[in-house]
Amino acid sequence: MSDSLRIALAAGDGIGPEIMEATLALFKAAGVMEKLEFVPVEMGGSEFLRGNTRGMSDSAIRTVEDCGILFKGPMETPKGSGGKSINVTARKLWNAYANYRVFKTLPGVETVYSKAGINIDMAIVRENIEDTYGGVEHRLSNDMIQCKRLISAPGCDEVHRFAFQTARKLGLDKIHCGHKANIMKMTDGLFLDRFRAIGRDFQEIKQEDVIVDALCMNLVMRPQQYEMVVLPNLQGDIVSDLVAGLVGGLGFAPSANIGNNISIFEAVHGTAPDIAGRGIANPTSLILSGLMLLRHVCLVKEAAAIENALLATLESGVRTGDFGDKSRAAVGTREFVGAIEKNLGNKPTTVACAHEAHVDEKTGPLKFVRPHKPVSQRVMRTFKNVVTQVVGCDIYLDTPLSPIALAEEMNRSCVDTPFRLTLISNRGTQVWPTGSVYTECVDYYRVRFELKDGVSPGSFGQSRCVALMDKIAEAFTVCSYELLRTFDGVKGYSLAQGQ
Ligand code: NAI
Repeated sequence: MSDSLRIALAAGDGIGPEIMEATLALFKAAGVMEKLEFVPVEMGGSEFLRGNTRGMSDSAIRTVEDCGILFKGPMETPKGSGGKSINVTARKLWNAYANYRVFKTLPGVETVYSKAGINIDMAIVRENIEDTYGGVEHRLSNDMIQCKRLISAPGCDEVHRFAFQTARKLGLDKIHCGHKANIMKMTDGLFLDRFRAIGRDFQEIKQEDVIVDALCMNLVMRPQQYEMVVLPNLQGDIVSDLVAGLVGGLGFAPSANIGNNISIFEAVHGTAPDIAGRGIANPTSLILSGLMLLRHVCLVKEAAAIENALLATLESGVRTGDFGDKSRAAVGTREFVGAIEKNLGNKPTTVACAHEAHVDEKTGPLKFVRPHKPVSQRVMRTFKNVVTQVVGCDIYLDTPLSPIALAEEMNRSCVDTPFRLTLISNRGTQVWPTGSVYTECVDYYRVRFELKDGVSPGSFGQSRCVALMDKIAEAFTVCSYELLRTFDGVKGYSLAQGQ
């Protein structure tokens, strides 16, 4: 086994061990174990029970980092205790920045689309690290809670490059960027701008953007128009489950979390505690995730053989209890996999066969190259040598005052400073100097100060803004503060609604 590739293996909780055992038996029958060595690691429920709030042992972390690849079953997230979702922890800890999920119409898995003869074959690439998933949340006043949405240019670049490279490898014609840049002009705007910037290196692929709400409607009405969609984290999370529903549910949706150093392959459904230990779970999602792993390490031939056998089995009507023709008896997990093993060497007849090529036309036989282990944390940068100038600040206050009363106080605070009060907003809507009496306010305001006439941008750094905030803090609770700057002359902040 010395020259075989080592893969860290976490069977998971609930139905995890059952479906993992079945998947590995299938891999063995297909000759995969001659090339891969699966190394068990301790992760999930048992680690949480030991009081480990990360849900993984130190030795598990070391093994995953040594192997560079983790194959995992579903894992439970303890409710109410300090334990965080192990799935989110693993993706963020190891910077598995691109969540790649493929969705295909499968024979024997009946959906409204399959009944209508509509074939679905598409992928979603979801950014996996940033967005509201940063988990940066604060209570700002009695009545207001904030979750910071962080989108970075290098984070966007990584996920877009992965999407385009994957689309090129698969020979796709078109890739869409899903977003909400019509509303979140700066964050989603950046995601879309970087899609276009990275796309310049992939001119042979058609590139379009689509607003996420329209995307959801289009996916339900005409899913076959999409080949690949790349999305920010939260939108991608929701849209990928929507597409899973179009092809029969989470039981048929595999998932890969790809990073530069470590990648994680997992079933996307949960631990199914209601059927755990009964030997009746459907292993298809985990098998399909395992096929993504095999393709990732260039075992394309083995992956195609297993996929074709799986498709032929589904075609024959063999099913576990959660899907398929209810007039036929359901089989258990082991029998289901046994039927796939028997079909190794066979191909489906009603759907396209899996692609077997293991030679790239340009570069020759595909070979997996294990990424190097980084020696330290890398600081990624997209934009350098940008000229920035301070032009003011937004100060956020916890106060129950009315907008007019607050404006009087703020105008007094900035008399002897380089700033003038230009705006007060509440929940993002301008309430001063103009506003509507219909705008209902809460106890949390943004107060914007910009340079007085005659003070030139960049004539001082941020210390004057901090001094203003300090002065205001003598009478008010300042919850937070944002510096207003221009970047190469362009405003680095949005306007308020109604401004
Ligand atoms: P779930 O996906 O475990 O179950 C939902 C329903 O689908 C249940 O009726 C279950 O029996 C069925 N089901 C799921 N997978 C199946 C399979 N392979 N074969 C047949 N039926 C299947 O979702 P639930 O109940 O919300 O979560 C249970 C636990 O799983 C929770 O602790 C949750 O945190 C965890 N979870 C873990 C995930 C992961 O590790 N990737 C993802 C989602 C949930």
